[in-house]
Amino acid sequence: MKRFFRYLDSVIKMEVEREGKTKFKTDSVLAAPVEELDTDVANHLFQGLRLHGLEGSSSQDFNEMEIVETTDGFSITIELHDDQAVLGLGQTIGPLNKRGGVYEMYNTDEPDHSPSKRRLYSTLPIFYISSPERQIGFFLDHPGYSRFDVGFEIRDRLKIDVEGDGFDLFMFFEKPEETLRDIFKLTGNPLFLPIWSLGYHQSRWSYEDEKSVLDIAKEFRDRKIPCDAIHLDIDYMDEYKVFTWNRDRFPDPSSMIDELSRMGIKVVAIVDPGVKAVDGYDVYEDGIKNDSFCKREDGRPFKAAVWPGESSFPDFLNTATRSWWGKYYDRLLKKGIAGFWNDMNEPAIFYTSESLKELRQMSAELEDRGIETEFLFGRIISKKKYFDYGNDFTQRDDSGIVHLHRKVRNIYGFNMARAAYEGIRSCEPERRPFNITRSSYPGIQRYAILWTGDNDSQWEHLLSEIRLVQSISLAGVSFTGCDVGGFGGDCSGELLVRWTQFGAFLPFFRNHSAIGTRKQEPWAFDEEVERLVKKAIDLRYSLLPYLYTIHKQSADGETTMIRPLALVWPQDRETYYADDQFMVGSAIMVAPVYQRNSEGRHVYLPGGEWLDLNSKSIIEGGHIWVSAPLETIPHFQRRDTLLVTTASTQYAEGGSWGDLHITGFVEERAEFDLYEDDGFTYAYETGEYSIKKLVVTNTHDGIRIEVRPQKGTFICKERMLSFKIYNGSGLHEAKIPDSPAGCEILVE
Ligand code: GLC
Repeated sequence: MKRFFRYLDSVIKMEVEREGKTKFKTDSVLAAPVEELDTDVANHLFQGLRLHGLEGSSSQDFNEMEIVETTDGFSITIELHDDQAVLGLGQTIGPLNKRGGVYEMYNTDEPDHSPSKRRLYSTLPIFYISSPERQIGFFLDHPGYSRFDVGFEIRDRLKIDVEGDGFDLFMFFEKPEETLRDIFKLTGNPLFLPIWSLGYHQSRWSYEDEKSVLDIAKEFRDRKIPCDAIHLDIDYMDEYKVFTWNRDRFPDPSSMIDELSRMGIKVVAIVDPGVKAVDGYDVYEDGIKNDSFCKREDGRPFKAAVWPGESSFPDFLNTATRSWWGKYYDRLLKKGIAGFWNDMNEPAIFYTSESLKELRQMSAELEDRGIETEFLFGRIISKKKYFDYGNDFTQRDDSGIVHLHRKVRNIYGFNMARAAYEGIRSCEPERRPFNITRSSYPGIQRYAILWTGDNDSQWEHLLSEIRLVQSISLAGVSFTGCDVGGFGGDCSGELLVRWTQFGAFLPFFRNHSAIGTRKQEPWAFDEEVERLVKKAIDLRYSLLPYLYTIHKQSADGETTMIRPLALVWPQDRETYYADDQFMVGSAIMVAPVYQRNSEGRHVYLPGGEWLDLNSKSIIEGGHIWVSAPLETIPHFQRRDTLLVTTASTQYAEGGSWGDLHITGFVEERAEFDLYEDDGFTYAYETGEYSIKKLVVTNTHDGIRIEVRPQKGTFICKERMLSFKIYNGSGLHEAKIPDSPAGCEILVE
């Protein structure tokens, strides 16, 4: 059965359910529909899409779409025209244009991110069928398994198999930038984070004790490399018991955190959902008492092995469990922990007693068969790796309905992040929270930021991440990042330099590596590598005024911090392939170098002239070759934009800056609303912020610079504003004192 609803102006939701069945509502979409539509009206509103098609004549004017019931659920088939790209699909490997591949939405702990991988940690099934003439956005809201064959079996067909009793399909009939805004209106705006989130973060699995954490911090300060946060991985816990401390290795967390705080460094702690199932451990005992854990179908407790050994898993589908869990974050907050890193929340499971038994049996068979057993041995390995525990346990929703985990798996991480966010907010209502998740679902941006999980220190992964973060951004997840330098495997100095250069433009900028791998802190290689890594980090800190403003814009639901070129210039097909470069805000385009021994790279510059931010020369748009020895990060400024920077500091001291440098490439007119505040509270909500509109106009008489009177009551530092405005007639410079009243000058 199909029903149609209109949301906002031009978003249509098609709700599909099997006769007599009710699908589970995910809570991803917060907005209510404006009206229910009858099928004919709905069909009429579909611009460029025609439901019930696929037979008869195909027309370039629309894409036929057909939905049929199958044994396991439904299949949605959409015709694709030759000139159409399918952009996005969230956390999926491959080019931004997903045509020609198969992708599964089934949140999976997958440390192997090679191109053949079909599943990763998140379900973000938002994609854009795009051609220069027409773009349609889609969001499949479904918490269970689905499989996207994007023109793999049949070149001109997108086939989505959806397992279960129903689904919601949202369709956005507008320009992609508008679609992104509508995604925020439906699923919520991204978090507005404290300023230190935008600094450089250092992590490793694990800085194993207090001394090594403090030593790392001192190294940063001694070497004058900026750093805002150090992350504590699982070894800070006592036997991996979540919300505890290992007192041998971290005897006094509060004083360690105080000492770090004096150095301007915050501490982020990892939190895993697996609760060690052992008597005497209060989180486990309380969970049992409150009936908070997932169960087997017959009602027995479900237990499986993760880091702590046998563990129970909170049933985050349940509001009561979420609020119970959320309160534990206070224990870490009280010790001074500033941010949380919710990991393993697909949830990742290593073994259950049943799966171990099965493996043992297979291995016994292996012994019986003697030597010709390679095939069987391979099966053991792959069985271990791809074991799906989705059918082994159940979750219960607020109305008491029990769901097989497989049917609601894709919102487990989303709901853990939600529990964390709500818990932290209620424990510390004054401070903006910093909350990371590994597993996610659309709407996650209102609870947490997302990092891309366990990549590898390989050049191929560097490119893969450049594409992944863009694909994720298309789903409305603004604050993303990846493990800079690569998680698994050994990083080299050159790779670290190039990865850090890319990371400097990511919303979340964290160097993280796995246990047993070569160290990859900035100084872990040679002096030249350290110098170049530091240079990239310093560049990041100098960009903070600009980044903080675009972060605030994203938190206001305007756009994501980074964006694919194809989102900004959908009418230009060349941008669909230029997915190894991306926009940071609306002024900068970065084209990271991701090949070993590279001295430069190809760059596509859409829409006319750009300012090369390295050479400060204006260059023609189109396809160009840019020289980029190891020292250089190709990045460019768009015409008629302003970029506000400052001097780099050792850490982000607040959401406001001293002397500012404004670089403009202005042929006609450019403006920028510089946003500042205290950097960590909600005081901005009651007016304690500053917005300064900077306007630069190229007039017949010269360059007019206006600083409009400040909005908001926040008091900015006394400082100078130095303008460097480039255009066809050369460089125009001016230096003026900043004041809340603003000013206007003309530069010849
Ligand atoms: C997972 C995380 C990784 C972390 C490790 C140990 O693999 O993705 O970042 O270091 O667990 O906690």
